[in-house]
This record gives sequence, structure tokens and C-alpha cells, in this order.
Amino acid sequence: MTSRYAVIGNPIAHSKSPLIHAAFACQTGQDLAYGRVLGDPADFAGEVHRFFADGGLGLNVTVPFKEAAWTLANERSARAETAGAVNTLIRLTDGRLRGDNTDGVGLVRDLAVNQGFRFAGTRVLLLGAGGAARGVLQPLLESGPDRLLIANRTAAKASALAALGAPLGPVQGCGLDELAGERFELIVNATSAGLAGGVPAIPEGCLAPGGWTYDMLYGDVETPFSRWGRTCGAERTLDGLGMLVEQAAESFRLWRGVRPETAPVMEMLRRSASERGS
Ligand code: ATR
Repeated sequence: MTSRYAVIGNPIAHSKSPLIHAAFACQTGQDLAYGRVLGDPADFAGEVHRFFADGGLGLNVTVPFKEAAWTLANERSARAETAGAVNTLIRLTDGRLRGDNTDGVGLVRDLAVNQGFRFAGTRVLLLGAGGAARGVLQPLLESGPDRLLIANRTAAKASALAALGAPLGPVQGCGLDELAGERFELIVNATSAGLAGGVPAIPEGCLAPGGWTYDMLYGDVETPFSRWGRTCGAERTLDGLGMLVEQAAESFRLWRGVRPETAPVMEMLRRSASERGS
């Protein structure tokens, strides 16, 4: 029988996850169907329970339900615990739900494995202290940078997030306005500023010569933060498409026990994006 999976979010029509998982299933020869569920904010728990009661085996969870999914999970991985959010629900054999969060490992794998970024000996700046930043905190620290600085428009939120990460590695928090004179080999944008076409206000000199920028957002055309990075002379300006595919691959592995190849799927998505963007 075909195994059923889906992504739940609101809005959901734009989600590339069904396309990505269909490509993974085809490539690995797995018999599965992966759909989209438009979640009802008033009945998220009910929808999830109905999906699994009807025989569903796993869900990806996206905006705005990741925190609700964390609450709903009967047990959680350590990284989901730190993230305070769940993007992957797995039905266990006894029917209980396990929550995991594959966003951070998706970011780190895209940087370290696909792009060859070496975290050891580097200074990393994480911009933002909301759900997206918290979601990647643990895997970023586990990748072993010399230093992780979290900078946020609201400084107190950056300090609180740094306190949460402190047992895991060398991390501090500050306001965006305290960055003058600091230098980083990697700057990761986890703010939502780009959704409104903006970039966080940080000094140009923050990017070390040869430094990279990574925008967790992605689009058919260059994101505002990638444009900022290019203007500052970044050696590489990456967007979040690679992270999207890598977090999906990690969810697929958790569900199916096999890790798909991500490169051909990224290539397919880039090709269709450049056709749309041109
Ligand atoms: P998400 O789940 O996407 O992280 P969020 O929890 O609402 O969404 O967090 C949004 C983040 O983007 C916050 O860190 C926010 O900064 P504040 O905490 O000061 O609000 C940041 N952000 C949003 N717009 C921004 C802008 N124009 N410049 C700088 N930071 C911005």
C-alpha cells in the first residue's frame, strides 16, 4: 500500500515540498504519496490527528504551526527541544507522535557538505532571534565555529537566545547596533526583513575579506540580503534553497530510513526558478 505523507501550513499552495519529496521517492524507488494540507489555525491539532488516524505516516510542518507541532508531539528529539519548534512529525509504531526539527541540520549540511564551508576556526554572525534563528541554533553550534554571535534588532531577544545556546557552545547575543568593529567569515540571515524587501541594518565592514553570506530566505531572483552580501564583496552569497532541500532530505531519512541525493533535486529547482525569474 502507498504510504502517505504531507506538508501542513497556512498558506501552503506555494510549498515546494511535494515536488521535492516526489523527486526523492522516484530516485530511491519508495512507494509514497506526499500531499499538501492547508492548516486551519483554529483546529491544527484536530487536523493532525485526523491525518494520522487515516493512516498517514509523517507530516512536515511549516509556518505558522511549528510551535503548535512541538506542543502536540508526544516525544521530541534534543534538537527539536532546543528549537522550540517541530517541522517533522513521525508516527511511531505504537501510534504516538515523535517531533523532530531538521531545519538546522539542513542549513549546516548545505553549507558544510554542498558548499564546502569549514566552520572550524570561523566567526559566525546569526542575524535575528525569532523562530527561524532558534530553529538552527543547536546544529550551528555543533558545527564547531570559534564563535557564534547572535545579533537582533531587539537586543534582549538575542541575549535570551544566546543564554539558551550557551551550554552547547561559544555563543553571545547583542543588538544590531553593537556590531561596529566586529568581523565574521560567515553571516547568516535568519530575520524576516527580506519578506518586506529589507535587510537588517548592519555595518558593511562586518563581513571579513573572503567571507560568505547565507540568506535563509530564497526566491526566484536574488534576495535583498544576497544583494547586500554581493555589494560588500562576499566570496559566496547563498540563499535558502539548499537548506530547504537538505531539511527535506533529513525528514525523508527519518521517515524512510534512506537518505536521498540532494544535488539533482536542487538542480531541478534552480533550473525552474531561473526559468521563472528570467
Ligand atoms: P521567524 O519565525 O521568521 O523567525 P519571528 O519569530 O517573527 O519570525 O522573528 C522575526 C525576526 O526578524 C526577529 O528577529 C525580528 O527582529 P525583532 O526581534 O527585533 O522584531 C527580525 N526582523 C524582522 N524585520 C526586521 C528588520 N526590518 N530589520 C531587522 N530585523 C528584522
